[in-house]
Amino acid sequence: MKVYQHLDLDIGPSILADDRILYAGKNPALATSWHWTLTTQDLNSRFLEIINNKLLQVIHVEVFKTNFLNQSWSIHIDADNGLGDVPKINWVYGSQDCPMIWYKEKDTRQRTAQKTTATGTGYYTFDADSVEEIARTFVKTPTIIQSGIPHTVINNSGKTRWCVSIVLKKGDDLLTFEQLVNEFKDYAV
Ligand SMILES: [Fe+2]
Repeated sequence: MKVYQHLDLDIGPSILADDRILYAGKNPALATSWHWTLTTQDLNSRFLEIINNKLLQVIHVEVFKTNFLNQSWSIHIDADNGLGDVPKINWVYGSQDCPMIWYKEKDTRQRTAQKTTATGTGYYTFDADSVEEIARTFVKTPTIIQSGIPHTVINNSGKTRWCVSIVLKKGDDLLTFEQLVNEFKDYAV
């Protein structure tokens, strides 16, 4: 099963209009935040042009941060738009020496109750012994990732990693991983 697709979007060095929004930006409290939202206006206009041409729209943009204080997220499924197939486009800042790992559930009865993130989206967590690894990659930006199956990132680099994560829709419809990969097939690497 394919769970990631690396892309070359040719939009310059950043998917953000201004990277400083990650470090201080509008809110000094970000220094101690691990997960927060950005807006469509925070994105690089060349990226917005690509998705506009494809009639795609941004549903939401989030930032996840890891560093030596918070080296990994628990193994989880992002359930903000339902279960099982939740594709996102990720762009990583700071340390890129961090594996993203996907897993298969050994037993679906191990799944916890749905929880809610700091930004109000849903997720489920898993014990490491209830899953087995099926794939891993280093997210050298940008990459379409499947967040609808158990996954995590491990940051043992000692440096901070910021992951900007974008969810898109087409018209009123959510996209499957396969559909999103197909939308960006001309950029696949
Ligand atoms: Fe996730």
